[in-house]
Amino acid sequence: MKLKPLIYGIATFVPGVNRIRIKGTGGTDSARYCYSVWLRHLVIAKENGLNPYPKIVAELGPGDSIGIGLAALISGCDKYFAFDVVEHANISRNIKIFDELVTLFENRIPIPGEDEFPRVKPYLEKYNFPADILDENRLQNALEESRLERIRDSIIDFQRKDSLIQYKVPWNSSSILEKESVDMIYSQAVLEHVDDLRGTYKAMYSWLKSTGYISHQIDFKCHGTADEWNGHWAHSDFMWKLIRGKQPYLLNREPHSTHIATLTEEGFKVVCDKKINSESRFTINELAPRFQSMSDDDLITSGAFIQAVKKTEHIA
Ligand SMILES: C[S@@+](CC[C@H](N)C(=O)[O-])C[C@H]1O[C@@H](n2cnc3c(N)ncnc32)[C@H](O)[C@@H]1O
Repeated sequence: MKLKPLIYGIATFVPGVNRIRIKGTGGTDSARYCYSVWLRHLVIAKENGLNPYPKIVAELGPGDSIGIGLAALISGCDKYFAFDVVEHANISRNIKIFDELVTLFENRIPIPGEDEFPRVKPYLEKYNFPADILDENRLQNALEESRLERIRDSIIDFQRKDSLIQYKVPWNSSSILEKESVDMIYSQAVLEHVDDLRGTYKAMYSWLKSTGYISHQIDFKCHGTADEWNGHWAHSDFMWKLIRGKQPYLLNREPHSTHIATLTEEGFKVVCDKKINSESRFTINELAPRFQSMSDDDLITSGAFIQAVKKTEHIA
C-alpha cells in the first residue's frame, strides 16, 4: 500500500486541495509527443483499412494542450472537437505547441518513437514519416499559409463563429455534439479515467458517422496508486474511495475485457486490439473481492490500443 496517494485522496475532502494538485496531466505539453501520438493513430488506422483522412475529428481528454487535435488539423482535418472534464489547456500553451507542430510537419520529421517516448503506446513497426498517407500534394495543401492562419485564429478564439476548434469542458452529455457528425473519435490514455464508461461509449456511438471509427489507447496500470502496476485491483472499494477522495477523476479500474464487452454491447465492432502484457506479481485470489472473477488475461493486460467501427446491424 502506497501512503502518498492515500493521504492525498483523504486531503481532497478538504475544500480547495484539488485545485492545488491539478497541474499537469501527461504528454500533451510536448509538441513532439502530440505529433507522435496523432501519426501513430493514423498509421495504424491505415494498416487496418480505416480512412486515414478523417475530416471531422473528436478527442476525449486532450489534457495539457489540444496539441494532438492541432496535429490533426495541421495535417489536413477540417474540424476538431475536444471534450475534457478539467480545463487543463490554455491559449499560450496551445499556440506554442501549434508553432512547433507546424515545423515538425514542414520538415516531414520521422515519428518520435520508443527511444524518445518509451512509455507511449501504441508501438509501430517503423517510425519513418508516413509519406504514403501524407504525400507531398496533400501536405502542401494542408500547410498552405492561409489555412494555418485560420487554425491559429481558431486557437486564439474558440468562440469565433467560423472556429475550426471546439473545446468543451466539462462535458457530460452526448447532446453536446450532433449525431453522426464525426469521422474519427480518439483518445490517448483517457478511457481508464472515465467514470461513466458505458455512457461514454454510447455518446461516441451517437456522434460517429456510419463510416467512421474510434481509436483509443488505454492504460490499465495503477497510475501511482500502488507499488505494483496492477496493485489498484488489490485495493478494497473502501480504500479506493479514500484514494479517489474528491478528485474530479482518477481511474475506473475497469480491465481490458470490460472495454471490449461494453463497446461491443454499445454497437461497435473491434477491428484492432493490440494488447500489452505485463507480468503480475498478484494471483487472482489476492485481488480485492470485486476483481476476483477477473480473467487471467485481464490480470496481465497493462495496456491496449483499440480501433472499432459501427456494427451495421446495431439498433441504438
Ligand atoms: C492521463 S491524462 C491524458 C491526457 C492526454 N490525452 C495525453 O495523452 O497526455 C487524462 C485526461 O483525461 C481527462 N478525463 C478524465 N475523465 C474524462 C472524461 N470523462 N471525459 C473526457 N476526459 C476525461 C483528464 O482531464 C485528462 O485530461
